[in-house]
Amino acid sequence: MDLESIKNLQKQLSNLFGVSGFEDEVSNFILNMIENENLADKTWKDPLGNVLAIKESSEDQNRILFDAHTDEIGFMVSYIEKSGFLRFVLIGGWDIRILQGQAVILKSQSGELLHGIIGSKPPHLTTATERKKITDATQMYIDLGMSSNEEVIKAGIDIGTVGTLYDPFEDFPNNMVRGKAFDDRTGCNVLLHLMRQLKESSPINDTILFNFAVQEEFGRIGAVTGAFKLKPTMAIAVENTTAADVPGIKDSQIPVFIGKGPAITVADKSIICSPHINKRLIENAKFEKLSYQIKKPMYGLTDAGKIQLTREGVPSSVVSVPCRYIHSPTSLLKLEDIANTVRLLEAFVRNPANL
Ligand code: CO
Repeated sequence: MDLESIKNLQKQLSNLFGVSGFEDEVSNFILNMIENENLADKTWKDPLGNVLAIKESSEDQNRILFDAHTDEIGFMVSYIEKSGFLRFVLIGGWDIRILQGQAVILKSQSGELLHGIIGSKPPHLTTATERKKITDATQMYIDLGMSSNEEVIKAGIDIGTVGTLYDPFEDFPNNMVRGKAFDDRTGCNVLLHLMRQLKESSPINDTILFNFAVQEEFGRIGAVTGAFKLKPTMAIAVENTTAADVPGIKDSQIPVFIGKGPAITVADKSIICSPHINKRLIENAKFEKLSYQIKKPMYGLTDAGKIQLTREGVPSSVVSVPCRYIHSPTSLLKLEDIANTVRLLEAFVRNPANL
């Protein structure tokens, strides 16, 4: 596992289109990769579109589930003005302060990506009080450069068409990269690299389960059905989390830092994480001399909050790659943090500390 391979996969996953409920591009990519590289003993897509995979073990001591979500936040067309402008509703938790003026992509019925811009009343026409207020998404529109309702429909855009912000992947200095949908294509990248690591390996005592889960941003849907099917005895959701290590934020309020390695959650708004799982993570990290950080409670909601409620209950936790500006048009992260997250999860599986 080198940073180049991590970067390549991050780029491919990030550039795929996968707004909640419209995730086939992402799930098909992942399914093909697992099958082509023979990364699991069993792989399939379930009725809602989750990609599930199992790496069997003869011992079958525990059934450990790793979950990462395939979807990204976006929007859905709710109305087409006669003049060809689109009205839209949001899918997932956008920061509406940053929507205006953004470039967007929409996926047409034939699968073609069309470009647009989010507009609203121009600043020259707004009053001083209007300018101080945050514009609601209902007052914004998407401009496709088209001039009529008919032209829009002819291009394969209709009520129900989805889209997301346009932000092609780019390299930054110091092994940092930027792109869209890092929440949670980063988790998908971690899981796929973990599968590669586990492939070249001595036998593992636990059965390892994977759920590349749909619709996290719309209520953590796929996490529920995937965990039900896979019957884990413990689970870890692998996420991207808010690194607010930026000017103006006090240390005591920064959930995690870029460059300090994987973040282990003790609690977020959806779960008090299993102390047993966290101990196995931390003791193995110490054993292997791996970097990690503890994420400050209680920020965010994760698939783990749903997975823990499966059947009679599943002790669960969350491990995240620190990332700046999630739920905004672009995110920024450090490739070493992804590599170190893969290492931590591999150590968790192999369990040299014997917990
Ligand atoms: Co997420």
